[in-house]
Amino acid sequence: MQEKVVLVTGANRGIGFEVCRQLLKLDHKVILTSRNADKGMDAVSKLENEGLKPDFVKLDMTEDSDVSGALRYVHERYDRLDVLVNNAGIFIDRDREAINIDPEVIKRTLDVNFFGVLKVTQKFIPLMKKNKFGHIINISSNLGALSKMAGNQPAYRISKTALNALTLILAAELKGSNIMVNAMSPGWVRTDMGGYNANRSVEKGAETIVWLASQERGFASGRFFMDKKPIEW
Ligand SMILES: NC(=O)c1ccc[n+]([C@@H]2O[C@H](COP(=O)([O-])OP(=O)(O)OC[C@H]3O[C@@H](n4cnc5c(N)ncnc54)[C@H](OP(=O)(O)O)[C@@H]3O)[C@@H](O)[C@H]2O)c1
Repeated sequence: MQEKVVLVTGANRGIGFEVCRQLLKLDHKVILTSRNADKGMDAVSKLENEGLKPDFVKLDMTEDSDVSGALRYVHERYDRLDVLVNNAGIFIDRDREAINIDPEVIKRTLDVNFFGVLKVTQKFIPLMKKNKFGHIINISSNLGALSKMAGNQPAYRISKTALNALTLILAAELKGSNIMVNAMSPGWVRTDMGGYNANRSVEKGAETIVWLASQERGFASGRFFMDKKPIEW
């Protein structure tokens, strides 16, 4: 397997942190990013204590200067980005219903889960194009699947449905460029977001992301994966 340069958003805790750990163990170059520099450096120290060597960049997806700074850093240090893992996300409408939710909650959620991903992805595509290779992995959710759509959590659901649509649109626009764009659902995972009653470990939640990140050119694009298999949108 070829060593890859991988950037993971929202990687100071949860699934993103575990993705960094597993990718480092496979000898990939991993850029752990966090919106908070102190929390990010704590996460880096934890991995260093295990003998791993992550790189670090501060990246709040809603801050344009951070997004530009991250691109500048990756460009100067590596001159390529093989894999972008759009992992960071928020879930702030757990007990809410669409019939009376404050639209501001939907806007705040979209700002991170959709527009944040869009901005970061748009920034890094030219670098992937220059290197004629890339894999954009969008961490979505079953809650965003139209085929399984149900009531409640409207902001989170809509943000992940929009992310799924973006996955398909980008995959179509990047066809023939050797840049693959896929979405995946990690399942219900024991993290701060998933809660500690969730039925999956963080290792299991990270597994399919790491598998996707390790794929070479010619792999599928425009698919929605769970447990290393395509699922319905
Ligand atoms: N856990 C689950 O059951 C589950 C299920 C389906 C999908 N997912 C998806 O998996 C991904 C990771 O979830 P998780 O369970 O690991 O969540 P988590 O433990 O809550 O971690 C979320 C991460 O996103 C970061 N973040 C939030 N806003 C950000 C911003 N504006 N810019 C950069 N980073 C930001 C957080 O940073 P701070 O520490 O600074 O807050 C944190 O590092 C998310 O996209 C989530 O929607 C999770």
